[in-house]
Amino acid sequence: MIMVSKDKVHLLYNDVEKEMHVSRSGFYRKVSRYKTLGCVFIVVVATLLITSACLSEKFCWRERTCELPPVPVQDSSHVCKKLQDGSPRKKFPEALIIGVRKAGTGAMRFYLDMHPYVEIASAEINFFDFEYENGYEWYKNQLPMALDGQLTMEKTSNYFHNKKTIQRIYNMSSSVKMIVVVREPVERSVSDYIQRKLKKSENDEISYPSFEEFVIDPSTGEVDASEKIIKPSIYHKHVVKWLKYFPLENLHFVDGGNLILNPYDEVKKVESFLGIPHCLTRDKFVFSSTKGFYCIKKNKGRREETKCLPETKGRPHPPVDPDVLRKLKVFFKPLNEKFFRTIGRSFNW
Ligand code: A3P
Repeated sequence: MIMVSKDKVHLLYNDVEKEMHVSRSGFYRKVSRYKTLGCVFIVVVATLLITSACLSEKFCWRERTCELPPVPVQDSSHVCKKLQDGSPRKKFPEALIIGVRKAGTGAMRFYLDMHPYVEIASAEINFFDFEYENGYEWYKNQLPMALDGQLTMEKTSNYFHNKKTIQRIYNMSSSVKMIVVVREPVERSVSDYIQRKLKKSENDEISYPSFEEFVIDPSTGEVDASEKIIKPSIYHKHVVKWLKYFPLENLHFVDGGNLILNPYDEVKKVESFLGIPHCLTRDKFVFSSTKGFYCIKKNKGRREETKCLPETKGRPHPPVDPDVLRKLKVFFKPLNEKFFRTIGRSFNW
């Protein structure tokens, strides 16, 4: 039996208590360190979660927290001033409007001509189809002068359905961008017919066959696929030939029907395709009730004037015999579908 005096017991008790106190404070220190680390961790994770949620609009739960930083509204007026850099020079075109004739190619040329980043030839050069023998230098000389930063362009609406042109254009540049205006095939054929008839009757008095006589083969009573006003409307047949040389990304298809109704939308898509600023703003397109088509505002010095396409564009169409119209629709339906599949895009025809 160990006998301990009262004082010793007191001392011993104090030591134990001290030791306990030391170990308890160490424990508390450890705990508070974990607490701090835990809090820091929670704060970091919460910050990360809130940031990612705010960046993705899908997970926004409060508009105020999730507002994205304001994107400065780009004022394009300064980039759309007439370019003046460098000295003008002749060069090969970086972009072409290759067709399709009577689908609205003239309207697209007319609109792009107003663009400060585009220098487009005023008339069809027909180099890659009829004038090829003149050589590439001749071609370059026919094109307008362009400043640094400006695209040189040309529009010949027969290039699209002329198979000779494809390799020739490829030989000039494999990266040339090509715009193809397409229009509902029957409407395009009717427009083509009127154009040919008016041209012919200017030169001679011989009576011209009717549209129906033109498109229907009398021996079969069916649509004559080899007829010159039908062939360009078989878009599928031609586009597959272009795709043997150029990737689909080099071709931009303009909806010719929409170009009549909403030219701003179609031109804006073309500006994006060409990689040029959106200078042809909505206010530049004005509908002319006398012409029945859109025209464009143009600055002439300090004055602003409205310019429309000539009378040869936007002619009235004659009615087509309903039976012939039905045959044409049946004829074009599968061909249109093939075309849509090939280009991965469809139109409302
Ligand atoms: P129609 O005359 O049959 O109506 P292209 O220039 O390729 O020859 O095409 C002519 C077609 O462009 C016209 O055919 C017309 O419908 C169409 N077009 C589109 N926008 C036009 C516009 N702003 N003014 C006149 N014609 C326009």
